[in-house]
Amino acid sequence: MVYSNLTIRPFKTEDLSNIHAYASDEDTTKYMLWGPNTLEDTQDFLNYVLSCYQKNPITHYEYGVEFEGKIIGGIALIVDYENLKAEIGWIIHKDYQRRGLMYQAALQMIEFAKTLKIKTIYATADSRNVASYKLMEKLGMHHVRNDYQVRFNKVTQQKDLDQVYYEMEI
Ligand SMILES: CC(C)(COP(=O)(O)OP(=O)(O)OC[C@H]1O[C@@H](n2cnc3c(N)ncnc32)[C@H](O)[C@@H]1OP(=O)(O)O)[C@@H](O)C(=O)NCCC(=O)NCCS
Repeated sequence: MVYSNLTIRPFKTEDLSNIHAYASDEDTTKYMLWGPNTLEDTQDFLNYVLSCYQKNPITHYEYGVEFEGKIIGGIALIVDYENLKAEIGWIIHKDYQRRGLMYQAALQMIEFAKTLKIKTIYATADSRNVASYKLMEKLGMHHVRNDYQVRFNKVTQQKDLDQVYYEMEI
């Protein structure tokens, strides 16, 4: 299924409530390094993201996933221009999961990464986050290694979480 009404785009000030809808959700943020957010946390995030767009060069592209005219998720590309490498990350509102939406959004972000001359895309996830690493695999990324006891969860203050590391050449 290819959605014609799905796109990725820079966030805008008015996206706050739609970002907060997924960023404040306990289930959706369970394996994230942050969240669930208070409204103030989400506002801080949005302010930070908007400030990143002003940098030259931009090293942190945090884009909204817009579906049927509404922001339903976010996708990030953190760029290391020196090594032509970028980290990709994603989150989508639980009401929109498992429809192939983030797969399509990620393909768009990877095409965008190519325009920046990026050669390698990598991603990490909590090793229990099956949805995230299965998405990496569907995108063609391969498992490079497990990193043990390196991941920190801001909310639970757990500092010894295991993560998977995937990458691919693009
Ligand atoms: C990870 C996440 C972004 C996936 O988004 P999504 O839009 O639901 O993913 P898609 O529907 O595009 O799925 C693409 C592939 O990923 C895999 N996948 C997605 N969700 C899955 C799940 N719950 N269990 C197993 N595989 C899953 C499947 O292989 C799927 O392909 P298929 O539909 O052909 O089987 C979403 O689950 C999410 O936002 N989770 C919470 C936030 C989060 O943990 N982000 C990652 C932090 S590292």
